[in-house]
Amino acid sequence: MTQTQINFKTAPGHQVLAAAGKKALRPGGFTATEQLFTWANFQPGDTVLELAASFGYSAIALAQRYGVQVVGVEKNPDSVARAQANVAAAGLDGQVKIIEGDIFHLEQIPDQFDYVLAEAILTMQSATGKAKILAGIGDRLKPGGHFLSHELRVNRSNADTIHRELSSTIRVNANPLSPQEWMAACQAVGLTIESHDVGPMTLLNPQIIAKEEGLPTLIKMGWNMLTRPVLRQRVLAMRDTFLRHGDDLGYVVICAQKEG
Ligand SMILES: C[S@@+](CC[C@H](N)C(=O)[O-])C[C@H]1O[C@@H](n2cnc3c(N)ncnc32)[C@H](O)[C@@H]1O
Repeated sequence: MTQTQINFKTAPGHQVLAAAGKKALRPGGFTATEQLFTWANFQPGDTVLELAASFGYSAIALAQRYGVQVVGVEKNPDSVARAQANVAAAGLDGQVKIIEGDIFHLEQIPDQFDYVLAEAILTMQSATGKAKILAGIGDRLKPGGHFLSHELRVNRSNADTIHRELSSTIRVNANPLSPQEWMAACQAVGLTIESHDVGPMTLLNPQIIAKEEGLPTLIKMGWNMLTRPVLRQRVLAMRDTFLRHGDDLGYVVICAQKEG
């Protein structure tokens, strides 16, 4: 597998963190994902569409733990190749399919699914982009199917400053919403909110990384930051922004149902 060279100065934050060795590239880590899985109550044979599947970790966990069939869509060809290799290594080729694709064109995926899972992807879109992707999600759900969402949330009073600072340090158009705004965006495409929860931003919390992703991941990240100064500057700048706005930033998870 050949990896495209990354320019650490300009690359989007999730690519920098992945290059540092981080596995979960989402605001509430595996803990928030676990909350979504609990609400979902997956049954063997259920079908799941995962948007922005990255390296396939969630897709693999879903297939192994619940016996579901997963299709993962990911735009970055390097991530697709790595996810496909991870799926093959887990012996899950018959259960998990990772395809290269664009979540702005979900109509190109022919099937409808029992669940659509999207983590840390809508935050990076404009209001129009969010609405387009959410409409596509509604179309890809079977009647009665569930949308499982995990995104960055913000306190509305400081949203403009945080948007500016996040976009400058993460180098993507990071546009978090308040929990109420996220739920309204789901409702606008005809989904009914069943459950939601909020929690702190844990993306770059060393204790949480060690707990959720293991000490070897934390050590690997530390080593990569020590030996690659530009990568270190980018990770520390992101962490600094998250800490500075810690009271106003966090994750939100939502489980919403399409009408049956
Ligand atoms: C912040 S990461 C989140 C990855 C993963 N969902 C997780 O929670 O660990 C964002 C991911 O979205 C992918 N991505 C960005 N734009 C996309 C698009 N238009 N279509 C599909 N994937 C996209 C990126 O390549 C990256 O893997």
